[in-house]
Amino acid sequence: MRKRFLAVAFCALATQAAAEDAADKAKIEDGATTYENYCATCHGMELRNNTGVAFDLRRLHADEHPRFVNSVLHGKQAMPAWDGTLTTDQVEELWAYVRANANDAKK
Ligand code: HEC
Repeated sequence: MRKRFLAVAFCALATQAAAEDAADKAKIEDGATTYENYCATCHGMELRNNTGVAFDLRRLHADEHPRFVNSVLHGKQAMPAWDGTLTTDQVEELWAYVRANANDAKK
């Protein structure tokens, strides 16, 4: 009886983990779309930073989320502010996309 309970509990956890993976993937993909629409002109296609005008977003570390959100919403020097253009969800999707491709991301 107990064994069966554990098996059922394990399956439920595995299903939940798979659903979370899919949700993360969708978030990253949405972030990639927003990035190409709003950021790639300056930061380079696919975060390549080959335009020579911006900052390599792949250098941001996991603990720099507050810096990212602040710079994106309020701008910095030649970097425009996106508050009012992008939703909070879009900014979070952008962060998921940047982190998935960061230099220190676990691949
Ligand atoms: C018009 C060109 C331009 C566009 C479009 C642009 N950026 Fe930037 N961005 C810059 C420049 C230039 C810098 C470097 C600012 C500096 O430090 O002088 C920068 C810096 C940044 C930084 C780092 C700021 C810091 O904390 O040092 C982040 C994060 C960033 N951009 C995110 C984005 C995102 C996300 C988008 C798309 C929504 C975007 N940028 C669109 C030009 C742009």
